Amino acid sequence: MAYQITLIPGDGIGPEVSAATVRVIEAAGIQVDWEVVEAGASALADFGQVLPPKVVESLERTGVGLKGPTATPVGGGHPSVNVALRKKLDLYVNFRPIRMLPGTVSRFNDTHIDMVIFRENTEDLYSGLEHEVVPGVVESIKIITRQASLRIAEAAFAYCQRENRKKVTAIHKANIMKMSDGLFLRCCREVAERYPSIQYTELIVDNACMQLVMHPEQFDCLVLPNLYGDIVSDLAAGLVGGLGIVPGANLGARQAVFEAVHGTAPDIAGKGVANPTALIQSASLMLAHIGEREASVRVKNALEAVYAEGKHLTGDVGGSASTSEFTDAVCANLS
Ligand code: NAI
Repeated sequence: MAYQITLIPGDGIGPEVSAATVRVIEAAGIQVDWEVVEAGASALADFGQVLPPKVVESLERTGVGLKGPTATPVGGGHPSVNVALRKKLDLYVNFRPIRMLPGTVSRFNDTHIDMVIFRENTEDLYSGLEHEVVPGVVESIKIITRQASLRIAEAAFAYCQRENRKKVTAIHKANIMKMSDGLFLRCCREVAERYPSIQYTELIVDNACMQLVMHPEQFDCLVLPNLYGDIVSDLAAGLVGGLGIVPGANLGARQAVFEAVHGTAPDIAGKGVANPTALIQSASLMLAHIGEREASVRVKNALEAVYAEGKHLTGDVGGSASTSEFTDAVCANLS
């Protein structure tokens, strides 16, 4: 029986990396009846809306989505599709595992990096509450709630317990934002008390960035409010070979949308050189989520084999292969 999964190809390199990922899932022998829907700049051009109701309806029906990146204009224009989608479906966990693939060229090749990021996905400065107080003065409102902070901390600790991870680090700026980040921290501490076997530490976000660059091996699981989670995710991606690598999952109580950390990469869009690894790794997480654990592991192993061989890698990770040559190599390892 084929799985019903929503596919949002997205903008920029989105359609290229999505097509590659669909090929890999097929090569893994998983039958999917894709419901393809448009969101982002492409949907704005075709339907006059960045997030047409069809997208949300499809995800409510299928419960699972694979999403390419969508463009958001800077300093004006339409609001972010991602923020809207995450809020509409209450996809409150943004989960991002940070791990080096074999053969990746990184300054940290001799360092053991294996951490997971739990980014709160629904509030903070992403609430989109901005206004001009008087000309020349604007206000952006940072919302932190007890409910959202408790559930992201709970998600992080529960995951660590299930996966036998040892340490959770909460990242904050509660020395300055004493009320908002202070509440986030109190919630993390409250949840930590219920998991005495997991070590709990806290770090101020600026120090955390320095520590991540100097000693990334010390980190296991990070839990962060939305904005710090966004920034630290890209920093962490840089440790393991860049944005072409790192996968992600947006998880809620009823739906899960799998997407890479990276954006639409307008500088390389349409050139056939984008690295689809991040979305393929996201698809591997998706396969595990729908119960196809064996296929999930096979996809992961096929990627690792291509990286270990090093002959068919894309430009961002030091190779010269095109998106399709890389994808052919992954598929060949699956058959
Ligand atoms: P970006 O992630 O698109 O690109 C940053 C740099 O990384 C670029 O040099 C790009 O070529 C490179 N890169 C990213 N993904 C790559 C891949 N798969 N293979 C090879 N190289 C890759 O970030 P940027 O430029 O800040 O954002 C561009 C657009 O993407 C913006 O409109 C932004 O709002 C959107 N965006 C969307 C996201 C999403 O839909 N989940 C996430 C992040 C950004």
